Amino acid sequence: MSIALICQQWDPAPWLEALLAADPELDIQVYPDIRAPENVEFALCWKHPAGSLAQFPNLKAVSSLGAGVDHLFNDPEFPVAMPVCRVVDPDLTQGMFEYVLTGVLYFQKHFQQFASQQQSRRWQRIISPYCRDYRVAVLGLGVLGGYCAQHLAGLGYGVSGWSQSQKELAGVECYAGVENLGAAVADADVVVCLLPLTEQTRGILATPLFAKMQPGACLINVARGQHLNEVDLLQALDSGQLGGALLDVFEIEPLPENHLFWHHPQITITPHCSSVTNPKSAAAQLVDNYRRLRSGRPLLNQVDWQRGY
Ligand SMILES: NC(=O)c1ccc[n+]([C@@H]2O[C@H](COP(=O)([O-])OP(=O)(O)OC[C@H]3O[C@@H](n4cnc5c(N)ncnc54)[C@H](OP(=O)(O)O)[C@@H]3O)[C@@H](O)[C@H]2O)c1
Repeated sequence: MSIALICQQWDPAPWLEALLAADPELDIQVYPDIRAPENVEFALCWKHPAGSLAQFPNLKAVSSLGAGVDHLFNDPEFPVAMPVCRVVDPDLTQGMFEYVLTGVLYFQKHFQQFASQQQSRRWQRIISPYCRDYRVAVLGLGVLGGYCAQHLAGLGYGVSGWSQSQKELAGVECYAGVENLGAAVADADVVVCLLPLTEQTRGILATPLFAKMQPGACLINVARGQHLNEVDLLQALDSGQLGGALLDVFEIEPLPENHLFWHHPQITITPHCSSVTNPKSAAAQLVDNYRRLRSGRPLLNQVDWQRGY
C-alpha cells in the first residue's frame, strides 16, 4: 500500500526526504508519476489538480500539507465525506507568530510612514506608542490565531480576539459570533486575519468590517486572499478609513504584475510566506496518521467536513 504526494507547486524532494527519514519503508508515489494508483490509501496534497484524487479507487484519507484545507474543499470533485486532516505543527505556529509580531511592530513603530518619507528624503520624527498603549484584534482564535493573541498579550499589547465559539484565553478579550465582530475590532490599531476560508468567512475583510474599525487602523491578512475584498481595501485606504495593509495572501497568486497593490504606498506585500510548513518537522505527524489509518485508529488533526475547517 502507498502514499501519493501531490504538490506540483512545491519541490517534492524535501517532503520525500523527510517522509522517508521518518519511515524508510514507506512506498511514496509522487504525482504525476503514479505507477500503481490502486495501491494509494493516503494522499498528501497541496493544491492538487481538481479531480486528480478520483484516480485512486482505494483512497481512505487525505491530508493537507499545510494548516489550511480550503484548497481541498475547493475541488468540486473532492470525494464526499473522505476523512481530511491538516498539519498542526509548532514550527508553523511559531513562524506565524513571528510574522504577525513583525507586522504589528511595522505599523506600531511607523515603518510604513518612514519608508514613504525616505522616498522623498523627508526627515520627520514620529513618536510611536508602547505595546501597552497599542491594541491588536485577532480574527480566528484557533491554533495560529490563539497562539498569536496570547503571545501578543504576553508582550503587553491590548488584545481582543474573535472566533465562532466563545473562548477563554489569558490576557485576551474574547468575542464570538457575527453579532460581536464589531466589538472585537472597535478599539484595535491593527486587525489580524487568521480565519480559515469558508463560505462564512469569504469576503469578510470588506467595507462593513472596515467601517467598524477606528479610522486609520491597519490590517494584516495572513489567512487567504479570498477573505479580502480588494476593491473595498483600496477605497478604505484612499478614504483614510484604513491606515495601511500588510498582505501575505492574494485572490490571485502570484500577484499579477499589473496589480494596483504593487505600487500602493500603504500596502506592503509578502509572497505567501508568512509561515510555511517545514517538511522536517511535519513529516512525523503525517507518517503517524498513515500508520493510524492503516491500523484503524483515530486520525490526528482531522477537520470537520460540515464546518469546512
Ligand atoms: N499565509 C500563510 O502562509 C498561512 C499559513 C498557515 C495557515 N494559514 C491560514 O490560517 C488559517 C487559520 O489556521 P489555524 O490553524 O489557526 O485554524 P484553526 O485552528 O482551524 O482555527 C480557526 C479559527 O477561526 C475561527 N472561525 C472559523 N470560522 C469562523 C467564523 N465563521 N466566525 C468566527 N470565527 C471563525 C474558529 O473558531 P472556533 O475556534 O470557535 O471553531 C477558530 O478559532 C488557515 O485556515 C489558513 O488559511 C495561512
